[in-house]
Amino acid sequence: MIWSIILGIIFAVLFWSVFIEPNWPRLRRVKVKGRKKIRTPITILHLSDIHFVKSEGSKRAFFQRLSMLNPDLIFLTGDIIDYDEGINTAVRVVSGLRARYGTFLVLGNHDYYDYHMMDNLRYHLAGAKSAIRKNNVSRFISELKRIGVHVLINESMRLEVHGNPVLICGTDDPVTQKIDFEKALRGLSPQTFNILLIHHLDGLLKLSHHGVDFVFSGHTHGGQIHFPFVGALYRETKLPRKYVDGLHTYKNMTVFVSRGLGAGRTIFPRLGCRPEAVLFELTP
Ligand SMILES: [Fe+2]
Repeated sequence: MIWSIILGIIFAVLFWSVFIEPNWPRLRRVKVKGRKKIRTPITILHLSDIHFVKSEGSKRAFFQRLSMLNPDLIFLTGDIIDYDEGINTAVRVVSGLRARYGTFLVLGNHDYYDYHMMDNLRYHLAGAKSAIRKNNVSRFISELKRIGVHVLINESMRLEVHGNPVLICGTDDPVTQKIDFEKALRGLSPQTFNILLIHHLDGLLKLSHHGVDFVFSGHTHGGQIHFPFVGALYRETKLPRKYVDGLHTYKNMTVFVSRGLGAGRTIFPRLGCRPEAVLFELTP
């Protein structure tokens, strides 16, 4: 009797984490007050690690909901596609998202590489830096640019958002490519609200520049499996445990690590860590 109850619970948890939770995204609203360089509120929709495949699948309605938010800015912090077949889906969905002052994107390791099962195991178990099969990243970038997305690869862009001077900087993928902070942070100034987009927060371990105000990142997927009182069992970061997800301070910068909206094909279950999109409101 007791064994059938235990087996039933195990089956229910497995079913939930494989079939329900990965397909149950949430929209979180986060208000960040006291931004000294901002005179009027700025809204930002942050998406990360969507891992688009052939179709939007169960998240179609969620993306339609996101398309009605109309924030000031949209940030996508890498792993937007899982492999080449996700390019068309990504371009279709992203082109449907509207932001008053533009959509900005940085690339992640999955945008560059097609991590099929064996590569994925090599990456996670043997610590291999990159997979063998490459995605058609140049096609992905040109398609994104065609629909008006600002793809920031070690570069920055200055703009005015409701009269607030804002600098948006983006690095190349810190997991598999070379970050060049000199180029990425060009234009950094005490007068602008300086935002940095970087796929993996660990890239900041090498950051010696000062003056970045806010960092948006992803890559960790929040650990995907959370247990009560313990939190994430597996965390893909060299930083302390808390940086696996959420809003924190690091080197005097406000940093946010997204739990992501998707996951790779091989390791996709989620438990206590729903996929998320986050709508920020930054206020004076
Ligand atoms: Fe990812």
